[in-house]
Amino acid sequence: MPSYPAVRLRRTRIAAWSRALVAETVTTPADLIWPLFVTAGHGVEEPISTLAGVSRHSIDRVAALAREARSLGIPCIALFPNTPAELRSEDGREALNPDNLICRAVKAAKDAAPEVGVLTDVALDPYTADGHDGLTDDKAYVVNDDTVRVLMDQAVVQAEAGADIVAPSDMMDGRVGAIRKALDGAGHVNVQIMAYAAKYASAFYGPFRDAVGSRGLLKGDKKSYQMDPANAREALREVAMDIEEGADSVMVKPGLPYLDIVRRVKERFDVPVFAYQVSGEYAMIEAAAAAGAGDRDALVLETLTAFKRAGCSGVLSYHAQVAARLLGR
Ligand code: PBG
Repeated sequence: MPSYPAVRLRRTRIAAWSRALVAETVTTPADLIWPLFVTAGHGVEEPISTLAGVSRHSIDRVAALAREARSLGIPCIALFPNTPAELRSEDGREALNPDNLICRAVKAAKDAAPEVGVLTDVALDPYTADGHDGLTDDKAYVVNDDTVRVLMDQAVVQAEAGADIVAPSDMMDGRVGAIRKALDGAGHVNVQIMAYAAKYASAFYGPFRDAVGSRGLLKGDKKSYQMDPANAREALREVAMDIEEGADSVMVKPGLPYLDIVRRVKERFDVPVFAYQVSGEYAMIEAAAAAGAGDRDALVLETLTAFKRAGCSGVLSYHAQVAARLLGR
């Protein structure tokens, strides 16, 4: 092996053209999925205080943002509803209303920009009175199999509205296979499932829960269904199960603190891997930039590059719009 001084690794770093030639990882707008929060009304934009720069939008505005995604080259948007308080209930039944906020938003987005993929979350937390992702029993335990039965119907309702990808984010056991069966049974054989396969019980979800209005409602924590941050091998079992049950792609969530999981999943399995750079991660970057601790745009691009380098096919990021503008087309 030749070595210094014959080898000088700085040689290829000397100029931008050379760095571009040898770059091992390229990030483009096509790597982004843009999460959007939906709220009731018309012409409404509600800023979210813990998520500076991100708002909830009424459906007409979601349609406009779907068009914007198209023009920015962002291939897919992810929609999350802030269900009006009076429609939240113990059984989360609003999730199954074919005319609920999310279904209407999906239709509006697909009408406005049919070329843009629409991803919907399959989980009950925006619909339950206690903010949990599933149904709870009298001991406040989130029950698995009864919840899965509701999720099957929820996925079909979303597919019927036009969702291209359904993304179970609830972490119930067996839901991917059950949802695949329900979708196929309803004739939606081409609706994809992106499984939130390794989703951790994380402290980084706070601003999201503000955005969908579940933070104040949430009783206890989600540790009986979301994963323990201490575990990596268990994540591989989760991913293996979801693939076996028919997941088209898998997701690791949160993002940056779990890049080791992304890498291990990528090395072990041949499915597309996505990461969700979650609300708390977005907020950290914004707070750092606001405090003068770093340049926002550079932080955004560096973190997205890190996801790609770790093996992600794409990233869900609240910075998608900013990033797509920076990356051009
Ligand atoms: C709910 C869901 C959560 C997120 C996506 N879907 C929050 C949670 O599990 O409590 C978090 C996203 C984020 O923080 O940006 N099923």
